[in-house]
Amino acid sequence: MNVLVTGGAGFIGSITTTELVSAGHKPVIVDNFSNSQKFVLDNIEKITGKKLDFYEIDVRDTDKLHEILKTNNIDAVIHFAAYKAVGESVDNPLKYYQNNLDGLLSVLDAMKNAGVSNIVFSSSATVYGDPDTVPITENATLKPPTNPYGATKQMAEQILRDASNAHGLNAVLLRYFNPIGAHPSGLLGELPIGTPNNLVPYVTQTAAGIRNKLTVFGDDYDTPDGSGVRDYIHVVDLAKAHIAALDFLDSENAGVDVFNIGTGTGSSVLEVIQTFKKVNDVTVPYEIGPRRSGDIGTCYASAEKAQKELGWKAELSLEDALKDAWTWQQNLEK
Ligand code: UD1
Repeated sequence: MNVLVTGGAGFIGSITTTELVSAGHKPVIVDNFSNSQKFVLDNIEKITGKKLDFYEIDVRDTDKLHEILKTNNIDAVIHFAAYKAVGESVDNPLKYYQNNLDGLLSVLDAMKNAGVSNIVFSSSATVYGDPDTVPITENATLKPPTNPYGATKQMAEQILRDASNAHGLNAVLLRYFNPIGAHPSGLLGELPIGTPNNLVPYVTQTAAGIRNKLTVFGDDYDTPDGSGVRDYIHVVDLAKAHIAALDFLDSENAGVDVFNIGTGTGSSVLEVIQTFKKVNDVTVPYEIGPRRSGDIGTCYASAEKAQKELGWKAELSLEDALKDAWTWQQNLEK
């Protein structure tokens, strides 16, 4: 399949691109480098041994996107391009609504005009808010969003449903749990700008001595060790879920379908720290601090629907992810 990958130079987009090539597809990348760097494209080439077609554009340029869809005979789109920092979305909500929603509308408009009807969309477990029960299934009630980033994901899901009803669009919404790790080659991974907000980048930077110590945000949650529990999914497994979603769309599954992409198991913050130390033989100084505002105690997926209907399940472990995250961190400093 010829697949347009928006945000293909980003953390998840770049690794998905390499998996697309492994699966025999032909990815075409668009990215505006708003939160990614040009060397990523060279590293994709090193891993795949292929020079891929790339366009430096903002996805809000609908005319250009339309032309790219036509010129490259695109069969399906994987739409990653979006902003994702929760705190920044609170400080600058209009930037988030503009980029994430105008971006999606532009992609859908270009697809409609070019006659491309299959899309895989990056949603997030954030749409579930604080769940009533775990593991979370896809039909759990969605909670009112607590920040503009989460609001853009819920609104985007609605936009895709409406576009499907009206224009015959076929969409798979993948609700990611907590993506971590890096490409095992150490050539592709996350590039956090400034102080990381997410746990694993903070852990790797603390182990590398860039940060003095990690703060564990709360040890008084109703969890086995009191620290927050999340479903950490290796980014390579997550990338493979997109290939499974494309195959699902290709086998005449019309309309909109939604899948959790997680491992089905929760790990606590303290477990992540201990596992990181064990597999990498490094120290991670930490202290227990207060809860972070907006955080929840426990969140992990029911991964059954993805296994049954997409034929996908996570294969890699927390150990694998934390090893690969550390290799990536060390390469970044070279
Ligand atoms: C966060 C976002 C979520 C987004 C996801 C993207 C919030 C409230 N949620 O999820 O919307 O989709 O990132 O990856 O921001 N922790 C520490 N110390 C740290 C950092 C984190 O103890 O320095 C803890 C957190 O309290 C939490 C766990 O580690 O229990 C994971 O945190 P994080 O990586 O930020 O992800 P989420 O908060 O689950």
